[in-house]
Amino acid sequence: MNSSYNKLVNNLEYLKLKQMLVHLDETIDFMTNNQLSFTETLIKLTDYEIDMKEVNMVKSMVKVGAFPHLKEVKDFDFDFQPTINKQQILDFTTLRFIEQKENIVFLGTSGVGKTHLATAIGIAAAKKRTSTYFIKCNDLILNLKRAKLENRLENRLKHYAKYKLLIIDELCKASHNSSYGKLLIM
Ligand SMILES: Nc1ncnc2c1ncn2[C@@H]1O[C@H](COP(=O)(O)OP(=O)(O)O)[C@@H](O)[C@H]1O
Ligand SMILES: [Mg+2]
Repeated sequence: MNSSYNKLVNNLEYLKLKQMLVHLDETIDFMTNNQLSFTETLIKLTDYEIDMKEVNMVKSMVKVGAFPHLKEVKDFDFDFQPTINKQQILDFTTLRFIEQKENIVFLGTSGVGKTHLATAIGIAAAKKRTSTYFIKCNDLILNLKRAKLENRLENRLKHYAKYKLLIIDELCKASHNSSYGKLLIM
């Protein structure tokens, strides 16, 4: 038993299955106390590894998303902003609008929570493993202008188009910047 246990520990270490290693003893105890089958035990043990993989995947999607902060819908005080329909925002976080190929536009004066809610929807999307990217309109335009000068506009457009959800913040600020000419917002 002891030598086979050690062999199993070595195998898990070699395969870099760290979570299975960390939870090995408690899973063996749980198996004994609850008379789990071999298959049930293996499912329980591998689930620890899968759970951690999921957490890391979400973390990296949130990182790739380049959100300005990690504010979520739960951090938004809807009582403070009664004109915003909470149900509608919650519906946005289901990502139904992406399936239905709809766009969302938040309009409102400064400080009312547009960036907060857009980020919250983006984080909800990243958590559902939907590729998401957050960018300020100014930066988007500058990047596209630079790409055009360097003859790689098409590639750059393809890059942005590959995201399932592209959040473009501060559209109105960009439209006020005269160096771009006129920006048509539809
Ligand atoms: N109803 C709200 N509940 C919680 N925080 C809010 C609310 N409205 C705004 N905030 C916070 O106030 C700040 C400004 O909001 P922001 O989303 O940047 O506004 P906007 O993009 O509309 O100018 C942010 O830190 C945001 O989290
Ligand atoms: Mg904003």
